[in-house]
Amino acid sequence: MLRVLFVGDIVGKQGRKALSKHLPFLTDKYNYDLLIINGENSAHGKGITKKIYDYFIDLGVDCITMGNHTFSKDNVFSFIDDAQKLIRPANLEPENYGKSAHIVEIKGKKIGIYNVCGNIFMENTTKTPFEALEKLLEKYPCDIKIVDLHAEATSEKYAFMQYFKKEVQMIVGTHTHIQTADEAIFDNCAFICDVGMTGPYDSVLGRDTDEVLTSMIDKIKTKYTISTKEAIFSAVVVDIDLSDLKAINIERIQIRP
Ligand code: FE2
Repeated sequence: MLRVLFVGDIVGKQGRKALSKHLPFLTDKYNYDLLIINGENSAHGKGITKKIYDYFIDLGVDCITMGNHTFSKDNVFSFIDDAQKLIRPANLEPENYGKSAHIVEIKGKKIGIYNVCGNIFMENTTKTPFEALEKLLEKYPCDIKIVDLHAEATSEKYAFMQYFKKEVQMIVGTHTHIQTADEAIFDNCAFICDVGMTGPYDSVLGRDTDEVLTSMIDKIKTKYTISTKEAIFSAVVVDIDLSDLKAINIERIQIRP
């Protein structure tokens, strides 16, 4: 059996702190084989820096997935091509930086982790997530396939899961920052619409509440300030049977402050 811990969108400093705080306990409790996190909001809510990438690797993270904020920090262009454990959505502009598949070998099986983003309410996308993943699976065939679908719409996430559920063992949604309670196994595939965020809980999706209210009510352009409130931790644990290459269990984890 392969056990995967996938931690949802790490938002800013509080999210990073929550990850390091809860990992020792989760490592003991679940004894997972593979740790994947979504890090696209880890540098003050938008993007990732080299320093934060190194911090995650030092914590024992095996793969960092990204999303629509992949290129928000200029610094990312200086290290993304060398960041072996970082993947970015294949169908997001610019397409020619970094990679969208990370392959590891565990217990004699080739495991592929892939990152694509949805098209609905998402800017700067190129292909559909369907075409993007098909191309990745063709180029990087693996025994076990794990996908982070970084997308907004539940409909798009379900359609994607229905299309790939026989071929892919794990599809998790990220981006909305709100964990959905729909985790289930469909055919061979463990699925959840959204894993939820690891970031400031009493906030607006991790952002400073006052600032978001000012921008929404007074229509004033604001900065992008991340809340300093304590973080919620959101993740899923998925078990995949290595003999018949099917997902057999998915469990939601949510630790509130
Ligand atoms: Fe996002």
